[in-house]
Amino acid sequence: MRTLKVDLGERAYPIFIGPDLLGDTSLYAPHIHGQQVMVVTNETVAPLYLERVENALSGYRVARVVLPDGEKYKTLDILDRIYSALLENRFDRRCTLVALGGGVIGDMAGFAAASYQRGVNFIQVPTTLLSQVDSSVGGKTGVNHPLGKNMIGAFHQPQCVIADTAALNTLPDRELSAGLAEVIKYGLINDPEFFDWLASNMTSLVARDPAALIYAIERSCADKATVVAADELEAGQRALLNLGHTFGHAIETGMGYGAWLHGEAVGAGMCMAAAFSQRLGWMTQGDVDRIVEVIGAAGLPTAPPAEVTAERFLELMAVDKKVMDGQLRLVLMHGIGKAVVTSDFNMDSLRQSLDAA
Ligand code: NAD
Ligand code: GLY
Repeated sequence: MRTLKVDLGERAYPIFIGPDLLGDTSLYAPHIHGQQVMVVTNETVAPLYLERVENALSGYRVARVVLPDGEKYKTLDILDRIYSALLENRFDRRCTLVALGGGVIGDMAGFAAASYQRGVNFIQVPTTLLSQVDSSVGGKTGVNHPLGKNMIGAFHQPQCVIADTAALNTLPDRELSAGLAEVIKYGLINDPEFFDWLASNMTSLVARDPAALIYAIERSCADKATVVAADELEAGQRALLNLGHTFGHAIETGMGYGAWLHGEAVGAGMCMAAAFSQRLGWMTQGDVDRIVEVIGAAGLPTAPPAEVTAERFLELMAVDKKVMDGQLRLVLMHGIGKAVVTSDFNMDSLRQSLDAA
């Protein structure tokens, strides 16, 4: 097992990475303060892993809430089921929530923990590649609104993250590829050496070579932990972690939540960010081609869906958490590993780039 730390002073916490961890009582115990534990999961993950987690927690008063599966259920309406289960079970402020599942469950259970009785503890047990490399780390929690992705939420850090890499064995191929989008993202933001490694090892990752996957997860978590420790509340550089996301969120909202997986939308979104950076003269065509090749080799789309027109993109991108005083900001690149948050572009060139995508 590998252990990393997210360095946030008194809110610092460990990330445990390795096979067969989710049934290990000793990883949970130091991070549970009261006696009450609520496991939040969904109907796909429950039959696979819930029993193992509940066995590991058998020394506590454990309750469960099993939500429907899917991005389209990441809503305030469905979130209410978690609050109801907590209240029906008379859970108090010393209770702990355990988020067992992918990023949808992690974001929802995390937001329930952030808001139940003004904040209770929670533990992330991510079971998708995407959630192991990104969403379980850093404390962003929340739900979607019909008008905008992840628009309702809070920052709330977990007590620990237990990333069981053996859980990835049951993950469908399409979901593995979606997770690889966020892995590639770290190389593009500020880790060009990791991008080179990914370009050479993408075949092993897609074939689920365990050593390659563990290396990629650890490096991604280390990259993310560094950014989060420096800028927990996204006053500055944390926004870089949204590379590809402004374009990607527009695809997700525009197509209807769940039609494109989040990671697929981010994959196409990073290609769009690269193409726009090249149009602005900030990136070579050679770098754009390498990015498109690696994203394609991960099994991800490299272009947006035809249904979302340039005009629709602009409309949807105006509802983004990076918009400040009405001005759109994007994460673009001055080369591989040199991402910047910027509004230094004109809307006509953006429109042309969207038209050409
Ligand atoms: P997901 O949670 O929908 O999981 C993908 C699918 O895999 C689901 O059907 C799920 O039930 C299934 N699944 C989960 N674990 C499995 C396993 N081990 N075996 C078989 N099936 C399994 O999607 P995701 O890609 O994990 O997460 C995407 C979500 O994460 C989006 O809502 C996105 O906005 C959010 N996100 C949040 C952050 C953050 O910082 N909080 C960062 C990135 C993404
Ligand atoms: N996934 C973006 C962030 O955590 O900031």
